[in-house]
Amino acid sequence: MEYIKLQQQGHVLLITINRLDALNALNRQVLGELKEAVESIDQNLVRCIIVTGAGSKAFVAGADIGEMQHMSKEEGKQFSLLGNSVFSALEKLPVPVIAAVNGFALGGGSELALACDIRIASENAVFGQPEVALGIPAGFGATQRLPRLVGEGRAKQLLFTAARIKAAQALEIGLVCQVCPQEELMDKAMAMANEIAANGPIAVRATKQAINKGRAMDMDAALALEADYFSGCFESWDQREGMSAMLEKRKPEPFKGS
Ligand code: CAA
Repeated sequence: MEYIKLQQQGHVLLITINRLDALNALNRQVLGELKEAVESIDQNLVRCIIVTGAGSKAFVAGADIGEMQHMSKEEGKQFSLLGNSVFSALEKLPVPVIAAVNGFALGGGSELALACDIRIASENAVFGQPEVALGIPAGFGATQRLPRLVGEGRAKQLLFTAARIKAAQALEIGLVCQVCPQEELMDKAMAMANEIAANGPIAVRATKQAINKGRAMDMDAALALEADYFSGCFESWDQREGMSAMLEKRKPEPFKGS
């Protein structure tokens, strides 16, 4: 792959969008390669994923404006469907995904972060949905994921004004859950990923799926789904070992995912 770099460190997979000369902007090729990367993930090896952008200036500066400039309506539709399918595939991965936002996260870049489960940002990160200033609405998920995350009023403010906000404000509105100096970002992301990866992988995956699938259900159905995921973890080696260790006042043996 030309624009996507994959690095496995223990149970953590680091995905880097690497298109430095365009501030990691998402053209069709980048999106295609990201999809390939997402589809190739082996859940037996990977217990947590970190997504970041190459360099120190941008996470992802958005969808590629040069590529969009002369698109027809039909091409615009296909481009939106492509971006949405890639981000939905990422969101639907059973393993947790952390966005390590290391700079500009604008338009499709902010939308990529929104498709991740957890967002942490460096102090120089800048978020925004500038699409309406380009004469289009957001097309890679922000009209749906941003209101669900920060509330409709704040989402509409960002989506209607095209305003950019800094990391500190993103933290205030719940768009990110942690902000740190840029030189610490990858260590913080890796520490969080390792913390997640050390837990029972079946339980972590069950938790993510219960939250994501439950979102589209009414409360009773969602709680029944939770009971299914909860009970599904019983009789596993991890559940027996985790509970025995607690009762025997010792650290559990490393979880096996079985
Ligand atoms: N698409 C294509 N190229 C981009 C790009 C983008 N989204 N963002 C930056 N680049 C390119 C620039 O054209 C420039 O290329 P050249 O060196 O060949 O001229 C290079 O990256 C560096 O960018 P700048 O010179 O502009 O850097 P800067 O520091 O002056 O500004 C910036 C940085 C504020 C991020 C600015 O580049 C910018 O505003 N980028 C566009 C942001 C944007 O509008 N994103 C939303 C796109 S629309 C979208 O994403 C739709 C959707 O929902 C699917």
